[in-house]
Amino acid sequence: MDTFVIEGGRRLFGRVRINGSKNAALPMLAAALLTDQTVTLRDVPGLADIKNMLRLLGELGCTRTDRTLSVDGEPHETIIQDGVVSLRSTNETLSHARYEIVRTMRASICTLGPMLARRGYARVSMPGGCAIGDRPVDLHLRGLAALGAQITLTAGDITAKAPPGGLVGTTIFLGGTFGSTVLGTANVMSAATLAKGTTIIESAACEPEVVDLANLLNAMGARISGAGSPRIIIQGVAELSGADYTVIPDRIEAGTFMMAAAMTNGDLTLDNCPMDALLAVTYCLQAAGVHVHPLGSLASTVHGLPSSNHRQRTPALTITSGSSDPSRTAENDPMRRSVRVTCDRVLRPVEVTTQPHPGFPTDLQAQLAALLCLADGNSVITERIFPDRFLHVAELSRMGAKVIRQGSTIVISGVRSLVGAPVMASDLRASAGLVLAGMAAEGTTIVNRVYHLDRGYERMEDRLRSLGAAIDRVDEKELAASEAAAA
Ligand code: EPZ
Repeated sequence: MDTFVIEGGRRLFGRVRINGSKNAALPMLAAALLTDQTVTLRDVPGLADIKNMLRLLGELGCTRTDRTLSVDGEPHETIIQDGVVSLRSTNETLSHARYEIVRTMRASICTLGPMLARRGYARVSMPGGCAIGDRPVDLHLRGLAALGAQITLTAGDITAKAPPGGLVGTTIFLGGTFGSTVLGTANVMSAATLAKGTTIIESAACEPEVVDLANLLNAMGARISGAGSPRIIIQGVAELSGADYTVIPDRIEAGTFMMAAAMTNGDLTLDNCPMDALLAVTYCLQAAGVHVHPLGSLASTVHGLPSSNHRQRTPALTITSGSSDPSRTAENDPMRRSVRVTCDRVLRPVEVTTQPHPGFPTDLQAQLAALLCLADGNSVITERIFPDRFLHVAELSRMGAKVIRQGSTIVISGVRSLVGAPVMASDLRASAGLVLAGMAAEGTTIVNRVYHLDRGYERMEDRLRSLGAAIDRVDEKELAASEAAAA
């Protein structure tokens, strides 16, 4: 297993391009199950989760139609070259998503709706426990059952059968205890594209990834409106065709790099940055003394906050489609901006509550917690989506952070500096928070189990090193051996 060895105290400088979004690409890859035509996705990140989804889709009868050169020992179906993946569902009899793959990646559940709608039958292993907290799929099943599916649970597998004649459109309230569900909305919206009549999803998730999926499905011939709002309307169609589509940039990766710049007192320019999907994040960062400036003609600052001398009227911003719209350039596409991130020497404390989009995303909570460990005062973070998502807190405390937890709220008393230490990654975003803390800390930090990070950040150590970080990926056995030799 790999670890990261990080020498802290290096300021980050330079330019980095934000990759395509993992959380947009996953349900979009599963959408290939809705048609027997080729679906081509571009700017697909080369991540462990994406490769697991491709392996799963291979088992569910999808064939790669893009010619990829063989890579040592890597099975053809999981190779991602230049971010392009072309898939075609060629064998619709293979409809069982096995536990062995589903347990590695919860997003496998996204194959349930598309297979049920297109093939009339699907068997998907129920996703198990998760480090970040309870993650039931009752809302997914509620939505699919409302479309007429007969759903049973046998030996840990969800079996879904469509009624004779297929799914039937209806009105579905999809809200749960913690609000909307992102993958639940994706699953039900995908299934409803092939249902008879009209489906209305009320309390739908408004995340940019849901909008991107709706844009892909519309490019495949679906009739979806209202994506990005809590009410999505889907007019069912008889069948869908193929499409060629570019995935939106990854807002969580962009937010992570913004905080990396702030925590190292660096100066970074992010290219292909989905600013329009990060307004809650940039609002919060500017309150903490971080300067986030879009470059070029659409330069703007999030209003309502004192900031240096960049106050200008903000033109109307719209969520843009992912499809390669030639008239959209980095210059005028608020979802693909170049953004410069710098930071005041002293960070200010803030109070934040995570919420469904457009609120502050839970997937940036751990990174923000790491940043606020260095703020001049007491900050408060309340986690509304996954109330127990605080496994990073104990690890940050090992680095000298002062954090008190009360239920789903933490109070962070800022310290002058963090101190390097061996720490354990527990999940994807917690590991990102620990890497940021390690880069800001004095001394050496060893982040164990970085396989968690590889699920959502492509070659993170190479990109950080190119920006000036002192970070190495080391096999933990080699590290232990070199430490023993040094002792
Ligand atoms: C998506 O997960 C993301 N994953 C998560 O990112 C992200 O944290 C989450 O949305 C919230 O933004 C992907 O897109 C692959 P939810 P999802 O259903 O869809 C409860 C990362 O780091 N709920 O929106 O699984 C649930 O327990 C990952 O990239 C039900 O009660 O999350 C949670 O409290 C981690 N019943 C809340 O809703 C359900 O049927 C929101 O979960 C479904 C969800």
